[in-house]
Amino acid sequence: FEELCAGTERKYIMVSGKGGVGKTSLAASLAVRFAQEGHTTLVVSTDPAHSLGDSLAQDISGGLPVLVEGTALPLWGMEIDTEREKEKFKAWSAGQGRKEAESFMGGFGLGGVVEQLADLKLGELLDSPPPGFDEAVAISKVLQFVQGEEYARFSRIVFDTAPTGHTLRLLTVPDFVEASLARIVRLRKRLGSASQAVRGLFGAGGSQEEAVDKLEQLQASIRLVKDLFRDQQATEFVIVTIPTEMAAAESIRLAKALRKEQVPIRTLVVNQVLQPGLREQYLATRRADQQRALQRLRDDPQLAQLQLIEAPLFDLEV
Ligand SMILES: Nc1ncnc2c1ncn2[C@@H]1O[C@H](COP(=O)(O)OP(=O)(O)OP(=O)(O)O)[C@@H](O)[C@H]1O
Ligand SMILES: [Mg+2]
Repeated sequence: FEELCAGTERKYIMVSGKGGVGKTSLAASLAVRFAQEGHTTLVVSTDPAHSLGDSLAQDISGGLPVLVEGTALPLWGMEIDTEREKEKFKAWSAGQGRKEAESFMGGFGLGGVVEQLADLKLGELLDSPPPGFDEAVAISKVLQFVQGEEYARFSRIVFDTAPTGHTLRLLTVPDFVEASLARIVRLRKRLGSASQAVRGLFGAGGSQEEAVDKLEQLQASIRLVKDLFRDQQATEFVIVTIPTEMAAAESIRLAKALRKEQVPIRTLVVNQVLQPGLREQYLATRRADQQRALQRLRDDPQLAQLQLIEAPLFDLEV
């Protein structure tokens, strides 16, 4: 922690691992510690199934950093609303809602380009939200953090990521986006060299050059994010796991995949380790905790219709 905390330059901390191992809890508590040490800190969830707000007991779903209440700490939380971004993308693809499209492209720092590309029916090239789209949205937000002035004040940005598979896609999605963009740039260039008459069919003349320039800028930005993920100084990946065979196997796969992507990882947090010397008091406290949660499940009107079956926790990994 001291290492992560040292220095005033911006650091990104990506917390990743299998579902349910404690990523959100670790991301939130790391963020609190950074803020306690004086870092202006943003903890941001890129998991489409957000629980960061629950962990902070606060609604942070607006898509912008929200000051965490109840402390005097310089701590902000934010959940990236991938569903809303997807809607914007669909509107853009359908060729409606120019405004939404511009704001979507604005996320990539490309606001004005939409206007110029509209005639080309760019949406058809990227027909429906592609796989890894959630991650692409997260990436575009990372770009905002890197480049946006409104985020300059944050010296620590902690990412509460979605379980393993998503995170790996997050790392490889720039390749996918890059490939799509390369296609568009090629197409644009080909159009650019076409005869004046053909170009006329697509409307504007001179602005096409500009559009290609902007797309190339976008490609450069995506490369920036790719490099950022692999930057030993600025970025730290923390793998969280729990001491079970299943979680161990997945963590080993994750570490291997990250290495393959040349992502630096130095820390493995093994959460929920039973400490020596636990006595009946521990079991009694856990049981009381569970009984409270069970009661909540029994009392909830949403769940009242369901047949509730309790399965025991065994004293070995099943
Ligand atoms: N060390 C711990 N001791 C006790 N409870 C813990 C510990 N770590 C996490 N928990 C609890 O375990 C549950 C899962 O934790 P958390 O939501 O942080 O995991 P996650 O990896 O973010 O899950 P998901 O993959 O669903 O996002 C939560 O109820 C949390 O309060
Ligand atoms: Mg979580």
